[in-house]
Amino acid sequence: MSLANTVPHMGGDIDPRKFRDVLGQFCTGLTVVTSMTDGAPTGFTCQSFSSLSLDPPLVVLCPSKSSTTWPRIRNSGRFCINILADHHETLSDRFAVSGGDKFTDIEFGSSPNGSPLLPDALAWLDCTLHAEYDGGDHSIVVGRVHALDAVSDSRPLLFHRGRYARTAEQ
Ligand SMILES: Cc1cc2nc3c(=O)[nH]c(=O)nc-3n(C[C@H](O)[C@H](O)[C@H](O)COP(=O)(O)O)c2cc1C
Repeated sequence: MSLANTVPHMGGDIDPRKFRDVLGQFCTGLTVVTSMTDGAPTGFTCQSFSSLSLDPPLVVLCPSKSSTTWPRIRNSGRFCINILADHHETLSDRFAVSGGDKFTDIEFGSSPNGSPLLPDALAWLDCTLHAEYDGGDHSIVVGRVHALDAVSDSRPLLFHRGRYARTAEQ
């Protein structure tokens, strides 16, 4: 019997506000997904990131279909996931805005696959585009990891109930 047959049909519409409120209870870290496209650095803030598989090494992220940056990164076929530290709130906001040069005045490095490495990121993962699936108003992107490193022991930037959050002092 398939799992679908064991789950009661919910029926009815889900209120978008309630959907956001309920899912907002799930605390996540934050990333900025970067790439070089047509010789220029590009990137966008992305909360929906997760480990997927160890063998082969895969991760998953979910770009909105309204993102203007993701199609350019898709074309390049490679990207770097920068995991943000707790002092990166302004950086996160900057990469969440559509348009403009998001890299102005940022001294970024270069990952092994040539993507921008953001200053003081906790960790980074270099990926190639492995697969992309439909996910409603988002895409489900699977990245194949080719190189990665954890480069800082700072605390992470979190996102919870629609706001930035931080871990408590130990
Ligand atoms: C805290 C936070 C989390 C976000 N998470 C995602 C995400 O998981 N997926 C996504 O597509 N956009 C996410 N966004 C929004 C994108 O960063 C934003 O829509 C995008 O950068 C718009 O720019 P673009 O048109 O250059 O893609 C998030 C924004 C913020 C502030």
